[in-house]
Amino acid sequence: MPDIHVVILAAGKGTRMKSARPKVLHHVAGMPMIAQVLATAAKLAPRSVTVVVGHQAEALRAALAGHSGLNVVVQEPQLGTGHALLTAKDALAGASGTLVLLSGDVPALSASSLKSLVDRHIATNAAATVMTALVARPEGYGRIVRTAEAAAAVGQQIARIVEEKDATPSEREIQEINSGIYAFEVAGLFEALEAIGTSNAQGEYYLPDLVSVFRGRGLGVETVTVSNPEEIQGINSRAELAAVSRNVRLRKNAELMAAGVTIEDPETTYIDGDVAVGTDTVIHPFVSLERGTTIGEGCEIHSGARIVSSRIGDRAVVLNHCVITDSTIEHGASVGPFAHLRPGSVIRPRAKVGNFVEMKKSTLGAGSKSMHLTYLGNAEIGENVNIGAGTITCNYDGTSKHTTIIESGAFIGSDSQLIAPVTVGREAYVGTGTTVREDVPPGALAVSAGKQRNLEGWVEKRKDKVGR
Ligand code: UD1
Ligand code: MG
Repeated sequence: MPDIHVVILAAGKGTRMKSARPKVLHHVAGMPMIAQVLATAAKLAPRSVTVVVGHQAEALRAALAGHSGLNVVVQEPQLGTGHALLTAKDALAGASGTLVLLSGDVPALSASSLKSLVDRHIATNAAATVMTALVARPEGYGRIVRTAEAAAAVGQQIARIVEEKDATPSEREIQEINSGIYAFEVAGLFEALEAIGTSNAQGEYYLPDLVSVFRGRGLGVETVTVSNPEEIQGINSRAELAAVSRNVRLRKNAELMAAGVTIEDPETTYIDGDVAVGTDTVIHPFVSLERGTTIGEGCEIHSGARIVSSRIGDRAVVLNHCVITDSTIEHGASVGPFAHLRPGSVIRPRAKVGNFVEMKKSTLGAGSKSMHLTYLGNAEIGENVNIGAGTITCNYDGTSKHTTIIESGAFIGSDSQLIAPVTVGREAYVGTGTTVREDVPPGALAVSAGKQRNLEGWVEKRKDKVGR
């Protein structure tokens, strides 16, 4: 196998996005499109990866800082895709083998299609291999012009690629398009690029012109046609961003369904590429599972739940309209409806969190319950604890956060405030409406409310006073 070098073009302005943000940093299915392209490129196990940046180079460079081992080269000014590849020349000095050229704005490409491009390129010993697609609506794309003998029939030799703006009316009829994804033989590539001119409608150096340069020199140029044209859809506008995102999302949902997950309505289910879901889990409509979330087997995730960077164990249930971030829900536990688990919430096996409960940096032990209208912040709660409705852990004194510890078997009566730092001991009771300022020993009952007084006849007396 020859070495593989990847170059990704991402220097263009992305004018049609009408955005202050570089185009390739817009998200597709939860990930910046450039990150999707880098992930696909990595599947080729390349010897090097070079990203060509230009417009808003610094923003892009900063966004790429997390990806190790990348060459980042700057194209300034941006004189077209041919010129963009030329700026990678120094980064590839001494390289040999196959150069795979990807576009930062074509994020839905599958690794298998990319591999078939490389395989064909190597097997045919071509100078260049172009990935093409047959589409019903070729508008906006470069068209593949094949040799005169049978210009429209795929299978004939490719002669050149013509951009939409330079195409004759009959060339615009061609439905085979250039994906902007190519494999090139490194030897001779940069020298051939220097032969490209700018006499075209946009006055730019067009990378696709390499096809006619190579053909003019009698070198082999091959094509590979992707079976699913959705994969090579480029993103140039917000409408295309939405269309490609939808395709990527539906592909992920289809993969999960094929693996044994029930998705009631794939059209309204949003699952990022890096999310894992176990078999026999049921996902109801309007659910978002984001950023590396993992869901176990046999779970049920009800409508309106948004789960971000969290781990859900087997047979757990997330009821309607929960927001769960950076948290863990262990097997057999149940959360919601309308619960908000903020970062660091841990729900141990079979524990239950109910309506309008907010948690943050808190652990609810196995079998424990907090069913209604409660705030648990910086709380460590043991097993089989019952937290009554309206309980508040007062964790913040205006300067720092403090911990509330509730040991196993304790019972916290409704409408209690636990003023941290404070500990409620094993099997202790906190009476309803108690303000707990001091530790409660194991087995004790804490009460703070005064004795109740009933003022007999008070209502009648008040009526006499106010006249009704
Ligand atoms: C390009 C192709 C077209 C193909 C289409 C597929 C050319 C001339 N045309 O058109 O045949 O059908 O892609 O999506 O190549 N870029 C740079 N530097 C530049 C210009 C562009 O790095 O000077 C980058 C852009 O950031 C983008 C990619 O190259 O990631 C493609 O550029 P774009 O302007 O989107 O080209 P298209 O008009 O889509
Ligand atoms: Mg484009």
